[in-house]
Amino acid sequence: MLVATDAYWKLARALLFRLEGERAHDLALRGLDLLHHMHLQRLLAAPVPPLPTRVLGLDFPNPVGLAAGLDKNAEHVDALAALGFGFIEVGTVTPRPQDGNPRPRLFRLPAQQALVNRMGFNNAGVDALLRNLERVRWRGVLGINLGRNRDTPNAQANADYRHCLERVYARAGYVAINVSSPNTRGLRDLQAQAALAALVADLRDSQERLAARHGKRTPMLLKIAPDLDAAAMDDIAATLERTGIDGLICTNTTLARTGVESAGHAGEAGGLSGAPLRARSDAVLRGMRARLPSVPIVGVGGIASGADAAAKVAAGAGLVQLYTGLIYRGPRLIGECIEALRARADTTHAAGPD
Ligand SMILES: Cc1cc2nc3c(=O)[nH]c(=O)nc-3n(C[C@H](O)[C@H](O)[C@H](O)COP(=O)(O)O)c2cc1C
Repeated sequence: MLVATDAYWKLARALLFRLEGERAHDLALRGLDLLHHMHLQRLLAAPVPPLPTRVLGLDFPNPVGLAAGLDKNAEHVDALAALGFGFIEVGTVTPRPQDGNPRPRLFRLPAQQALVNRMGFNNAGVDALLRNLERVRWRGVLGINLGRNRDTPNAQANADYRHCLERVYARAGYVAINVSSPNTRGLRDLQAQAALAALVADLRDSQERLAARHGKRTPMLLKIAPDLDAAAMDDIAATLERTGIDGLICTNTTLARTGVESAGHAGEAGGLSGAPLRARSDAVLRGMRARLPSVPIVGVGGIASGADAAAKVAAGAGLVQLYTGLIYRGPRLIGECIEALRARADTTHAAGPD
């Protein structure tokens, strides 16, 4: 079965890779929806093994999730969940709809199994996302990733995040505060100490009020960049120790071009994702794990094999997410990661704690 599903995937990929990046992306998601409606999804994805995991006070059927940005408007959740993901993160969503940057804005670097994107938070706005979610039948853990509108200055950014948080709070399994996309000018400045302290403190207050109002505590995670040195990680950790945070997502895409210098499209502006991001992303994951030993971390960035997922868990992640690896390796990567994490859990269980 796995051989057949992989053959179908490789055929689909060969056709899609002839198209411009974003067109291929849209077509692939529409094709996935169609297969799902026709109950033919097994052509692309074999069933995945269970690996029940409890993190953030939430129960996951397995710890391998879909990273933000693939389904920004929550239009394909049922079809994506049927591939076997243990959780799905939609967004980034902003208060008002916006077009994002002009096309082309998504580029493949196939030899490096990487992408460069400068999408710029193209999305239909938080109200449209919530309407789309009303049609979703899947009842797994849904993360909703929040950002600010491009034309909202950082001085007013808190109000954008607060607005989105209030709108999605009841529906979300968790929320992710995205201060790390490189494609919205000034957004990453929100990672600096004073701005981050004000933003997270404000959102934690809202979270408390919303928890009381809805009788439900929705965990709040902060998604950070891989382009942080030790001093920046110290500052973020110190801030989060003061404000509190339920979890971290390490990491977003990188501005660096290490490992892809000679590739076509490497010179395009935007964030680099995929295999060349892995080392940098893992370093930030390890750095934050050392600084905040008890905060759950979602490890994302450059997972292209089961071994990469296991390395993130060894570095301190409780959950992992995929994006670029899924484009290059196809849905079989999900099961491969779960198998590797299960094998790792079996060995560490037999050997005692790390
Ligand atoms: C085309 C594209 C769009 C993305 N959009 C978002 C986004 O809207 N919000 C976000 O937090 N991350 C976004 N990301 C970053 C991914 O969620 C992930 O953090 C990053 O790609 C590293 O993982 P990967 O190497 O497995 O792709 C995007 C990535 C890509 C490739």
